Amino acid sequence: MSAVERVCEFLNKTGTYYLATVEGDQPRVRPFGTALLYEGKLYIQTGKVKPVSHQLAANPKAEICAFKDGAWLRLAGELVNDDDRDVKVAMLEKMPVLKGMYDPDDGNMQMLYFKNAVATFSSFTAPPEEIRL
Ligand SMILES: Cc1cc2nc3c(=O)[nH]c(=O)nc-3n(C[C@H](O)[C@H](O)[C@H](O)COP(=O)(O)O)c2cc1C
Repeated sequence: MSAVERVCEFLNKTGTYYLATVEGDQPRVRPFGTALLYEGKLYIQTGKVKPVSHQLAANPKAEICAFKDGAWLRLAGELVNDDDRDVKVAMLEKMPVLKGMYDPDDGNMQMLYFKNAVATFSSFTAPPEEIRL
């Protein structure tokens, strides 16, 4: 399994993760649940109207954290906007519940993929393992 597959599988397993962004000198963090492996990249989804989207436009640096069954993941990198329609459609197919809120052509739905990302898998029982996506 590749590094990006492993990270995506872990996020699918946890269901919820926490996404941190930066606003000036203030960290901002909130729960997220979207994760999609598409053409070898890990994508998340949001709305362009949200503060999180504005923060990432000003500063793409982001970090996510997820925890399940005694193991946790920290993924640090940059989130890059991708307006490709096909990846939006793929996201809506994977998580149909989003169809009630988003449409690929609504001008709001946003897909972002991780670039220059480093994943660290940790647990209470083993040393941290760092892998580059
Ligand atoms: C379990 C859970 C999962 C969520 N997943 C997402 C998500 O994947 N994308 C998203 O834009 N908002 C998601 N939300 C909603 C955001 O947390 C919420 O809109 C938040 O206010 C966005 O941050 P902001 O206000 O700084 O923009 C989720 C909320 C919960 C409770």
